[in-house]
Amino acid sequence: MSEKLEQLRTVRERIGAAGGTKRIDKQHEAGKLTARERLGLLFDEGSFVELDAFVKHRCVNFGMEATDAPAEGVVTGYGKVDGRLVYAYAQDFTVIGGSLGEKHADKICKVMDLAAKIGAPVVGMNDSGGARIQEGVDALSGYGKIFYRNSTMSGVIPQISVIMGPCAGGAVYSPALTDFVFMVDKTSHMFITGPQVIKTVTGEDVTPEELGGAMTHNSVSGVAQFIAMSDQDCIAEVRRLLGFLPSNNMEHPPAYDSGDDINREISDLDDIIPDESNKAYDMKDVIKHIVDDGDIMEVSAHYALNMITCFARINGRPVGIIANQPKVMAGCLDINASDKAAKFIRTCDCFNIPILTFMDVPGFLPGTGQEYGGIIRHGAKMLYAYSEAVVPKVSVIVRKAYGGAYLAMCSKDLGADLVLAWPTAEIAVMGPEGAANIIFRNDIQNSSDPVTTRKEKIQSYKDEFATPYKAAERGFVDDVIQPAHTRLRLADAFDMLATKRVKLPPKKHGNIPL
Ligand code: HXC
Repeated sequence: MSEKLEQLRTVRERIGAAGGTKRIDKQHEAGKLTARERLGLLFDEGSFVELDAFVKHRCVNFGMEATDAPAEGVVTGYGKVDGRLVYAYAQDFTVIGGSLGEKHADKICKVMDLAAKIGAPVVGMNDSGGARIQEGVDALSGYGKIFYRNSTMSGVIPQISVIMGPCAGGAVYSPALTDFVFMVDKTSHMFITGPQVIKTVTGEDVTPEELGGAMTHNSVSGVAQFIAMSDQDCIAEVRRLLGFLPSNNMEHPPAYDSGDDINREISDLDDIIPDESNKAYDMKDVIKHIVDDGDIMEVSAHYALNMITCFARINGRPVGIIANQPKVMAGCLDINASDKAAKFIRTCDCFNIPILTFMDVPGFLPGTGQEYGGIIRHGAKMLYAYSEAVVPKVSVIVRKAYGGAYLAMCSKDLGADLVLAWPTAEIAVMGPEGAANIIFRNDIQNSSDPVTTRKEKIQSYKDEFATPYKAAERGFVDDVIQPAHTRLRLADAFDMLATKRVKLPPKKHGNIPL
């Protein structure tokens, strides 16, 4: 027996040594942790259980029969994050560059299948040279199996991708199919075709960082939603995000007692909106005043800054917040903002996270760039996502709510369960200036003093419509509230809506405008 135990110990040691000291040192010199170090940080201390450590590839091409690949270049298993079950895999760059072959993919699929069966999130840490070139089509098939699972498990269990090294070629599509993508600044890259191929095909010169670095994907392409400065910070943020998510689509997200008094009045909110209706302010200040401990976790913080999407808690319960940001482009809706909001709304709806919308929107961004880019199609995603979302939906109209953009930001007619308005709300078909120019055109043109007449007409339109009361008279606004009471009213609203049930007509799936 002791011989057999010794054998087990030796084999485990060899697997634990991964690609060897030299390659591990190289990984550390590059500012990256190893796969096992990353998993050690992700999970509560001592809770990680590794599966399939003994798996070997069966490739015999190009000398691979003599290549030992400890744990097949990917460490897989499960453990606890804040006491809750989570599955994970971490590609090991020190073993054949973390390249993905048939058995490497099988290991990933096995934890994904377990996660779906049990109903727990999967975190995938990507650090790989891509398809293992020696394995040919077997490697491609491996990717296909992962993509298939990413898609079929979408909306069933949360899937989080963490890019901590190279992720190139078709390999990028697994992260792209998941709910959230984290990237580590400077050490992670994602692209379909790399700088050399681009140079050959289009003649463009671009560095890997410019092409597919963390900031590029967080701020320009929108492929990634989070950026971190190190592996350690990144993993801490993944743990934080998991705290807002349920384990699966049949559960509610976990509530924590924050200790933040729900009855606290927030008198600062009573004068947070500037007197001039076109003056900017920071909507994040409004949100932070209202949520528990002022704590928000922004999603896509560097993309489409005219739209804010974040997780927070009210009375301990997670909510997903979508808000216009008047500080950027006056908070108007454009293609990127619509895409950002639509994806976030659907993510919240998948995972039973109530949706809270703060509205201060002057309209859609005009211009040929937007029209040719398909703002009609992209804006429609928001309307669709809000309409089909069955989670509790509460909207707060803070200031402007004009035209189609008012509808798109979860108005009553798009299924908001409760619409609250501040006294500063202006709910109308369009802004008073534009409206006066159209409906009082003749009065203005025929006036002996067109400038004064126009001013008077704008004011009369403002008096009539730039208030919440017309909408409240019709029942489109359920209540006009003092801003200072917003926190309390929202806590009450989400409490009241906690058992909401909606049945949509039976169908295979809808046809969201893509
Ligand atoms: C087999 C690979 C590999 C791969 C890296 N290695 N990528 N082995 N298949 N795809 C091996 C290297 O040979 C090396 O082995 C070790 O991993 C570390 O790689 P280095 O090149 O020394 O590391 P570095 O200098 O940091 O460069 C990293 C890299 C580079 C930029 C990722 O390795 C690279 O360009 N790799 C190839 C990328 C690629 O073209 N992949 C296929 C993409 S197509 P030794 O023994 O020397 O340590 C694809 C299609 C997927 O993925 C389609 C899905 C639908």
